[in-house]
Amino acid sequence: MAQDATAPAATTPVIRVGALYKNYRMGAETIHALNGVDCTIDENEYVAVMGPSGSGKSTLMNIIGCLDSPSSGEYWLSGENISKLGDKALARVRNRRIGFVFQTFNLLPRATALQNVEVPLMYGGVGRRERRARAREALAHVGLADRMAHKPNELSGGQRQRVAVARALVNEPDILLADEPTGNLDSRTGRDIMRLFDALHDSGQTIILVTHEPHIAEHAARHVQLRDGVVTEDHLTRQAAGQATAQASGHASGHAPRQATGQANA
Ligand SMILES: Nc1ncnc2c1ncn2[C@@H]1O[C@H](COP(=O)(O)OP(=O)(O)OP(=O)(O)O)[C@@H](O)[C@H]1O
Ligand SMILES: [Mg+2]
Repeated sequence: MAQDATAPAATTPVIRVGALYKNYRMGAETIHALNGVDCTIDENEYVAVMGPSGSGKSTLMNIIGCLDSPSSGEYWLSGENISKLGDKALARVRNRRIGFVFQTFNLLPRATALQNVEVPLMYGGVGRRERRARAREALAHVGLADRMAHKPNELSGGQRQRVAVARALVNEPDILLADEPTGNLDSRTGRDIMRLFDALHDSGQTIILVTHEPHIAEHAARHVQLRDGVVTEDHLTRQAAGQATAQASGHASGHAPRQATGQANA
């Protein structure tokens, strides 16, 4: 996060994982969910992780998101070695540096939108007044200024996911992770959420998202394909530069046009 954008040569990657393995022991059987994943993700990248069901996408996201630890291998987050941290330290890193959005929103059902967004700040020890102010700001940023007092069951699916995005962003994380964020949304609402992600990316957020759907993956500038716990493909989908010029002034309210004009109309 605190990297100097004017000195790209010296930038530390946001994510670097090397020879990452994850095994699950199930009785007599061992499931090899990750089989040596190597991957580096730089600041302001927009990455879609794809692959068949069971290929290890969520396992990888959970490790990157500090929700789980690898069986072996290395994980560096913004230059800090995460692989050796114990549960407590891991939880602290997760709270400070990771924003996670899930397919099923994972909001507290009895809490209002505002209270839900305050949760990470509460864990972070932020005082009540500042917590309120920052949660309000995050909700306004995702277009929910007029829904702060609503509980999850008083919100639409798209609005719930926006609350989850606000909660993920309220601590200004190094990276926003999203595991099938549109999986429970109809296609129009899914498009709204993707426009929000695009605008966040345009304003500098680093994003990794898992999706099955090619039209969702299209929003990302890089595709990483997993199969049987290994990366089988990793390529850029378009010029990051073109994307940046097309959207230098995007706002999170979701009005970002995706089209690069290719011409200056002064
Ligand atoms: N907690 C767990 N205990 C045992 N096995 C697990 C556990 N979590 C995942 N697995 C196994 O690890 C493999 C990878 O699972 P993972 O959830 O990462 O797949 P995925 O690519 O996210 O699939 P999907 O697209 O269906 O969400 C699967 O074979 C799965 O059954
Ligand atoms: Mg999954």
